[in-house]
Amino acid sequence: MAVLEVRDLTVDLMTGAGVVRAVDGVSFTIEAGETVTVIGESGSGKSTTAMALLRLLPDDLAVLSGHARIAGKDVVASRRHIGALRGRTVALIPQDPMTALNPIVTVGKQMVEAIRLSHRGCSKAEAGRRALDLLRAVHITQPERRLKAYPHELSGGMLQRVLIAMALSTEADLIVADEPTSALDVTVQAGILDLLLEIQERTRAAILLITHDLGVARLMSDRVHVMQAGRFVESGAVEDVIDRPQHPYTRKLLDALPALGPWDDPAARTKETTP
Ligand SMILES: Nc1ncnc2c1ncn2[C@@H]1O[C@H](COP(=O)(O)OP(=O)(O)OP(=O)(O)O)[C@@H](O)[C@H]1O
Ligand SMILES: [Mg+2]
Repeated sequence: MAVLEVRDLTVDLMTGAGVVRAVDGVSFTIEAGETVTVIGESGSGKSTTAMALLRLLPDDLAVLSGHARIAGKDVVASRRHIGALRGRTVALIPQDPMTALNPIVTVGKQMVEAIRLSHRGCSKAEAGRRALDLLRAVHITQPERRLKAYPHELSGGMLQRVLIAMALSTEADLIVADEPTSALDVTVQAGILDLLLEIQERTRAAILLITHDLGVARLMSDRVHVMQAGRFVESGAVEDVIDRPQHPYTRKLLDALPALGPWDDPAARTKETTP
């Protein structure tokens, strides 16, 4: 059974200027251990697709139709299902690590809260130990010190590692990552992507990745879907779509982007700094 199964998903957004069909009948599946990437220009509907699947769009703003199952549970038919899945079966890695955490609460306290939310009956002390283990798992230096720190005392790369650690704490079957590295310095991006790959190898999580960066897509994906104006215009194995694009929109996207990025440059990976 696929971890995520989406069939004919449509999302209509109620805007001041009328109804916008942001997602127009997309279908795809992700199996355990697979990474499926949605690429496309700004406004093509990538985030709306992800947010609709996580039921993070308000009911009065977005009308969903079609079918989507996460771990067999229909999340379009019933909002109740996703409540039970979110933070447990499904984890979201948000786009902007700087705003995702509460600025006035220490990193450790926020991690402990997240861990206790997804593991009922876990004591504070036990959650604290898990938080420390998780920071070690995401290769954060001086993890004891980071737990006591406030978010502004950590670099963007470290904060994104904290958010990935929090996503990991849920032992999710599906990780949704909407532009997980685009707010980060290019030298930090490669380390974060390596980390995601390492986690996936260990946990066999399915990853839904959203990016406008073809270098990221090529490094991470098994399959890609190219999105334009709410539809998938081209889908396939990453090598086929990126190296031999068939659709003119995909070719245009590829032309619009310069080099594929420094992912293969080992020198770029050693530069993530710690204060
Ligand atoms: N809150 C909103 N109110 C009105 N329209 C919206 C809203 N959010 C998104 N849209 C519209 O929905 C469409 C899809 O937007 P979406 O954010 O999903 O695109 P995206 O592919 O994620 O773009 P980006 O690469 O910039 O993140 C766009 O046409 C956008 O204008
Ligand atoms: Mg987006």
